[in-house]
Amino acid sequence: MGKVITAVLAANFLLIAAAMQVSADEFNELDLALWKDEYEGVVQRGRAAFVDPSLGKNGVVCAQCHPNAANTHPETYPKFQKQLGKVAVMAEMINWCIRNPLEGEPLALDDPKMIALQAYISQERRGVELVPGKH
Ligand code: HEC
Repeated sequence: MGKVITAVLAANFLLIAAAMQVSADEFNELDLALWKDEYEGVVQRGRAAFVDPSLGKNGVVCAQCHPNAANTHPETYPKFQKQLGKVAVMAEMINWCIRNPLEGEPLALDDPKMIALQAYISQERRGVELVPGKH
């Protein structure tokens, strides 16, 4: 009985391994192109959002204080932020800036604009070493 179970488990393992092999083979140049296009489109929307006064209510835009996403430090998150009184993710600090300097309404954390802002910021800081928690 024990041998039968072992054999069934081994067979299942082989099937799973074969399925993984198939999905690895299915990842082709079209997939890569789609990945790149989708990602770059979102980064572009983030770049546009950085100069979009409609995020706020007083005409102020992100790029005035963060040209080319300067001083955004995505590599330091999650970290303690004094303004928020807790360890926060970067999106919460983006909302702090939308509420304060821009006097706007905070975005949902999964709002496409919030994701685009983060994509643009991280893209501008690509290659910087991760230092989570750094002040
Ligand atoms: C009037 C200037 C001003 C504007 C406009 C502004 N910010 Fe900020 N931003 C600040 C200040 C001040 C801080 C706080 C710095 C700190 O204490 O870490 C900050 C912090 C941040 C941080 C965290 C930086 C860090 O070092 O952890 C991010 C990310 C950020 N802003 C993104 C944005 C985005 C996105 C926008 C547009 C929606 C925006 N900011 C608009 C001044 C501004």
